[in-house]
Amino acid sequence: MLSFRPLPCLLLHLFLDLLGPEGSQTGSVPSAVKTLVWGPGLEADPVLPARFFFIQAVDSSGTNLTTSPGEKTFEVKMVSPTEQFVRIWIQVLDRQDGSFLVRYRMYATYRDLQIHILLKNKHVAQSPFILKGSIYHEGCDCPQPIGSVWEAHMHCPQSFPQIDRDLDFFASVDPDRNAQEIPERFGQKQSLCHYTVKDNKVYVQTFGEHVGFRIFMDAILLSLTRKVRLPDVEFYVNLGDWPLEKRKSSENLHPIFSWCGSNNTRDIVMPTYDLTESVLETMGRVSLDMMSVQANTGPPWSEKNATAFWRGRDSRQERLELVKLSRARPDMIDAAFTNFFFFKHDESLYGPLVKHVSFFDFFKVSVQFYDIYL
Ligand SMILES: *[C@@H]1O[C@H](CO)[C@@H](O)[C@H](O)[C@H]1NC(C)=O
Ligand SMILES: *[C@@H]1O[C@H](CO)[C@@H](O)[C@H](O)[C@H]1NC(C)=O
Ligand SMILES: *[C@@H]1O[C@H](CO)[C@@H](O)[C@H](O)[C@H]1NC(C)=O
Repeated sequence: MLSFRPLPCLLLHLFLDLLGPEGSQTGSVPSAVKTLVWGPGLEADPVLPARFFFIQAVDSSGTNLTTSPGEKTFEVKMVSPTEQFVRIWIQVLDRQDGSFLVRYRMYATYRDLQIHILLKNKHVAQSPFILKGSIYHEGCDCPQPIGSVWEAHMHCPQSFPQIDRDLDFFASVDPDRNAQEIPERFGQKQSLCHYTVKDNKVYVQTFGEHVGFRIFMDAILLSLTRKVRLPDVEFYVNLGDWPLEKRKSSENLHPIFSWCGSNNTRDIVMPTYDLTESVLETMGRVSLDMMSVQANTGPPWSEKNATAFWRGRDSRQERLELVKLSRARPDMIDAAFTNFFFFKHDESLYGPLVKHVSFFDFFKVSVQFYDIYL
């Protein structure tokens, strides 16, 4: 944990691992000609912290492989026409179903890069792929000047229905009124940030005591301003785990961007800090790297442990109840605390604290208790 977090508004939620059983077929041999390759990482323009594309192994009869042909089946190389060595880290993740996720993180900007995808030294599909022009890395301060051009490069959908719905309540906003009223209403008890983007620079004023989580919002905004020139804009971000705008009438609503929301509140919901952090940290810290799970899905479905599993700390009463349930029915639920912070730790009720388990160990079980934020 990077900083103190207010008591979360979370629900205990039974999360069924979606990686269900798969058909199996063995003995197929991939064909360099028939194998399929696709994804945004084969283009120059979409600038991402880590770029990625997919390989689907296909045999000479045109049938997709559905089991792994072996982790090292395909070799991927990045080649610059002008430099002998490139500072690019490439990872080929075997998804164990005949397909591969290839990711690469660039540590410098290059021109006219080539991606070579090889199967036993033969080029696969349309390899070599040639990325024309400048291929920027994550840290490059190289914003595309026109927002709509950037959206096209990123293949953004025309609209996001949920965001449109949330914004519908705010046909017009008065920045001066907001600057006055929002801090008055929430500035004392809640944790808020007032962001201003001006000339593609990010300015922030914080309100409240626990504002450590602003680093996540700062990071995604700074990453965006390196990629696209943002319009001048100001807005408020709620750093807490519960929505703030509870007024019922559609008048006098304050527009507040939040990592959580509900049908009874009017906060404008945006991707949570763990999602944005996970994107920015792709191929960085493992526990934040959601994509890496695709190659670490644990044992086959039929061999996963069916005891429902949970680890965490005591940030909500429901968690205490879950651990009590687990102690009553250890055959069905394995739930234990790794830390006590909010409640008094009564070992006779909740058992001893246990050690953290590795992120990937969670995929050894078929049922996890997972917290979702509303
Ligand atoms: C083979 O895999 C590709 C890529 O995932 C997919 O688009 C295609 O539908 C698959 N073909 C069959 C016959 O399942
Ligand atoms: C909230 O609203 C959405 C969209 O109208 C609806 O699909 C969903 O069922 C509602 N949820 C609850 C808990 O009422
Ligand atoms: C499943 O996990 C529980 C605890 O999480 C353990 O007690 C049990 O032995 C495991 N079962 C198998 C078959 O490994």
